[in-house]
Amino acid sequence: HIDDSRPFFGKAAVKRTLDLMAFHKMNVLHWHLTDDEGWRFPVAKRPELARDGSSRPHSANQKDLADRFEGGTYGPFAYSEADIREVVAYAAARHIRVIPEIDVPGHSKTALKVHPELLCFPKGSPEAPQGAVANVFCLGNDESLKLIDDVFEAVCDLFPDEIVHIGGDEVNKVNWEACPKCRARMKELGLKDGKALQSWQMNRTAALLAKKGKRVIGWDEMILDGQAPEKSVVMSWRGAEGGIAAAKMGLESVMTPHTACYFDYDQCIKDDPAVYPWFTHPLPLKDVYAYEPLAGIPADQQKYVLGGQCCNWSEYTCDETELQWKMWPRACATAEVFWTPAAKRDFADFRRRMETHRSRLTALHVNCAPLE
Ligand code: ACM
Ligand code: ZN
Repeated sequence: HIDDSRPFFGKAAVKRTLDLMAFHKMNVLHWHLTDDEGWRFPVAKRPELARDGSSRPHSANQKDLADRFEGGTYGPFAYSEADIREVVAYAAARHIRVIPEIDVPGHSKTALKVHPELLCFPKGSPEAPQGAVANVFCLGNDESLKLIDDVFEAVCDLFPDEIVHIGGDEVNKVNWEACPKCRARMKELGLKDGKALQSWQMNRTAALLAKKGKRVIGWDEMILDGQAPEKSVVMSWRGAEGGIAAAKMGLESVMTPHTACYFDYDQCIKDDPAVYPWFTHPLPLKDVYAYEPLAGIPADQQKYVLGGQCCNWSEYTCDETELQWKMWPRACATAEVFWTPAAKRDFADFRRRMETHRSRLTALHVNCAPLE
């Protein structure tokens, strides 16, 4: 997983990351292309999104990543359609699938800065978990649904993979409960609350994509009352519970519980110059390696776990050099954990082999962090 919304890494950095992924037998790139800090995805029908949603001003707020860039505006930075096709082809040549993510209906501050008329309340929007305000689409407004549809149609035009990530995480539903349009929508459809409204939207997007031969993957908030869109894949991030619940429903999952797989968390090395978020949790190499992806899943349901991933969230990562520092060597552990049966995993042996492997990475000019 690459978070290309917070900083913009650009296609050369993404290609170098794909080379390193192939080197470690990682065969799916989850490409997070939109979020509160930047919209990087080109939509021919809606050119304003990438044009006006891909830059942000320097901020005096110390909590903001923007403060770590030079003063002035950061951006505009977005991919062209040709860039996307080039990255997808480059990945395919290395046997890597690319699964794009458009994160809606929350984490959408950049789209809503461009289209403030699609907020429930342009003024007085509540703060979202990442500190952003005004980052949730009004789902009572038909124009929000039209825009979301247009964006996912563009995704289908550019990405050949069967699976599309439709987001769905950390949606602040306070506005929906108070908004006349959202309340009318909930009443009309018999939806009992904001959670049900989100579930309706995700099912609606899944149905649109199904018509185009696609399946969706969504963050684990997509599960409501033991239900998720038909044939969907659950990305289990708040813990393993999403994957466990998916297996019980006969749905596939991708495991990325934050405590074992989020590389914006502190890698606990000596004198680390990296900057980590305020919500960080210790995640040294040995803990990445100690993760057991199938824990808690009955033997007959383990077939539903498609695999797993490390998430390189980059609110506090400014460029490719910093990305590499947080990603390696921990991604080596992720690769080994997900490709190796539990009985064959041995941290002491991995640690010994990593001495040599780290020197391979540094010889390739990868900014690999020390092992501890
Ligand atoms: C997430 O970390 N908000 C999926
Ligand atoms: Zn609304």
